[in-house]
Amino acid sequence: MSVMTALRHAEVRPESEFVADVWSGLSGRPKSLPSKYLYDARGSELFEQICDTPEYYLTRAELALMRSSVAQMAQALGPELRLVEFGNGSGLKTRLLLGALERPVAYVPVEISASALAGSCAELQREYPDLQILPLQADFTAPLTLPRAHRQPRRTVLYLAGSTLGNFPDAEAALLLQQMRKAAGPGGAVLLGLDLKKDPALINAAYNDAAGVTAAFTLNLLARINRELHADFQIEQFLHRARYQPILGRIETDIVSRRAQRVVVAGRGFDFAADEPMRVEVSCKYDRADMQRLAKAAGLQMQQLWSDQQQQFAVVLLTATQS
Ligand code: TRP
Repeated sequence: MSVMTALRHAEVRPESEFVADVWSGLSGRPKSLPSKYLYDARGSELFEQICDTPEYYLTRAELALMRSSVAQMAQALGPELRLVEFGNGSGLKTRLLLGALERPVAYVPVEISASALAGSCAELQREYPDLQILPLQADFTAPLTLPRAHRQPRRTVLYLAGSTLGNFPDAEAALLLQQMRKAAGPGGAVLLGLDLKKDPALINAAYNDAAGVTAAFTLNLLARINRELHADFQIEQFLHRARYQPILGRIETDIVSRRAQRVVVAGRGFDFAADEPMRVEVSCKYDRADMQRLAKAAGLQMQQLWSDQQQQFAVVLLTATQS
């Protein structure tokens, strides 16, 4: 390693995982950028604005569904649960569910960001003073050991809201579900939010809002890379593109290079052809057959499905066919 290289590495060390992820994504064919880095402070702010755009139906549909059906969900889940939530961006949905459950034993949010975890736990504890809250700072895609509650729960339920599962390509989604089944243990269950297949025009609009908030959100990733990794993306030379692929049943969100150009990221150069895309995210959409297939691949079966009045969004209850 040359002195210059050593220096550059020293310079970027605090973000070394970020550098490694970006380098590896940009070295792939096709190129990609890891979507978990979309949510810096500005990205999180823009995502909240996406949820308020008239086109992004997902958040409103899921909330409407929770409001209309949470009592039925709580009944199907049963009393004295340990509720484990993967991710923690869903305060209101979680509060609705906790409020409907009969004598929940513990709530275990699993979240990679320590600050997000601390903030939401404090707020929740104020609202449910008797609930044992056991935050777990961890990456939920890795195998987990769940914390034990004071009281013995009758059942462990793993909750993944917000269509997050849809952001994992099929094979990875099945693996994650399998892990959730194992974490829930014998007699456990998985409660899953999923976006439903529908008119592609509606789906395309949700990821291409007219005000351009989603475009600003995806392109913010380049601004973050510039700032944190000493990169020189000329942001106006890239564009946001999200397209629904009906055969794959998913939205594919890319950042596309408007022209041939070279970009330097933490000392390493990457060449882009005109119109070359970088894949940022996929968002899978499901029908009942898709859900059954996915459940089966993970050793689970579909026990119940709730959807909102307009059939936009679903919450499904899955139970183990094997332990
Ligand atoms: N991951 C969420 C989804 O699939 C949030 C989201 C909305 C998103 N628009 C996006 C993620 C554009 C990446 C790019 O709906």
